[in-house]
Amino acid sequence: RKPLIPYEEIGAEKLSELIDRFYEKVAVHPDLYPIFPEDLTETARKQKQFQTQYLGGPNLFTEEHGHPMMKARHMPFPITPTRAKAWLACMKEAMDDVELEGPLREVYYQRLVLTANHMVNRNEEDE
Ligand code: HEM
Repeated sequence: RKPLIPYEEIGAEKLSELIDRFYEKVAVHPDLYPIFPEDLTETARKQKQFQTQYLGGPNLFTEEHGHPMMKARHMPFPITPTRAKAWLACMKEAMDDVELEGPLREVYYQRLVLTANHMVNRNEEDE
């Protein structure tokens, strides 16, 4: 039987691997690296905490940083539709790398599409 909680299905180890692969791609993506810190260690650590709770695991992000308010936390960064697409492309490649497959991948990825689109806070031209 499959666990009902996505976090339990993917597991802490594979989730951590996914996020590490994701930031390796962000670090070299021409549309993304300019708005990210050079050292992504702390960013990846926070993202692991966030994704853990996003997928139904323990509320690690909230325990350390308070209410996620993700759109507000992203406001200082110019997130255009192009950057949302780039973010999702990095995530898709990272999912390929860690061989995340099947319904879990589809459900998780589709949810990330909605969240990424929700983060868009600038038009391309005002970027
Ligand atoms: C932080 C960009 C989408 C979760 C950040 C930071 C940037 C960024 C530049 C700051 C990094 C730092 O200073 O350490 C983007 C872009 C996105 C996007 C371009 C494209 C749509 C998302 C999505 C999620 C997410 C979809 C969650 C599903 C986070 C988290 C942090 C973060 C948890 C750390 C927040 C904190 O510092 O407390 N993002 N992001 N981001 N992002 Fe995104």
